[in-house]
Amino acid sequence: MRLLGRPGPLRSTALAARPPGRLRAGPWRRGSSRGRLGSTMAEEAKRLAACAAVDKHVQNNQVLGIGSGSTIVHAVHRLAERVKEENLTIVCIPTSFQARQLILQNGLTLSDLDRHPELDVAIDGADEVDSDLNLIKGGGGCLTQEKIVAGYAKCFIVIADYRKKSESLGEKWKKGIPIEVIPMAYVPVTRALTKTFGGAVELRMAVSKAGPVVTDNGNFILDWKFDKVHEWGEVNTAIKMIPGVVETGLFINMAEVVYFGMEDGSVSVREKQPR
Ligand code: 5RP
Repeated sequence: MRLLGRPGPLRSTALAARPPGRLRAGPWRRGSSRGRLGSTMAEEAKRLAACAAVDKHVQNNQVLGIGSGSTIVHAVHRLAERVKEENLTIVCIPTSFQARQLILQNGLTLSDLDRHPELDVAIDGADEVDSDLNLIKGGGGCLTQEKIVAGYAKCFIVIADYRKKSESLGEKWKKGIPIEVIPMAYVPVTRALTKTFGGAVELRMAVSKAGPVVTDNGNFILDWKFDKVHEWGEVNTAIKMIPGVVETGLFINMAEVVYFGMEDGSVSVREKQPR
């Protein structure tokens, strides 16, 4: 793990050239980590991580995957700022309806995998990141398109606040591993999951709608609350073999680098270790 902290004037090149250590605030830093008016510490941490990642990894003429959730909003804002200031040509591939709206609302160029089947970089949030850079994703229910987009990117970058940083999956994220399922199969998939792997499974229910959450793909989400630490690569493969499962929120061995915005206003960087 690399600890960058309190970034100084921070651009992609500046960050790249900087040796490991705490970085000072970049030009995008608006206030102290203790928050601007109306902004929580976690929100500021998300913004710091997002800005550091965009400044480090985005270059002209790239095809970029845009993740979903609240952290990615900050990345899109910073991206739009850079596109305008530096006159960059960037094409964006969304991972959800939300991401598509964000791209359009921020005046960025929207595309799709038909036209751009290979991406240079995908940037996305996560619900938890372990010490091997394995992730739980899907808190926002967009895991399937997120995994597709990340899977076709040459480089997958994750941005998160300090609350997502853990050693072992399940240490921080207590809502379980999201699993997208075909609606007609949610009961047998639930039974197969608990029988094979233990724990408890819940059908995710909508908040401002009667009934379950329906994903952008028209499916349901099961949240599997596991009761022990598993070998996550094997479990992920096994879950995907259950008929009716579309995708899991386990992102194993996919992320190259994770940027965590920290409570003290620094950005901590976890990188994939060479095997
Ligand atoms: C949505 C996701 C999000 O990236 C994840 O839930 C993190 O969200 P946030 O940035 O709001 O914490 O996987 O499916």
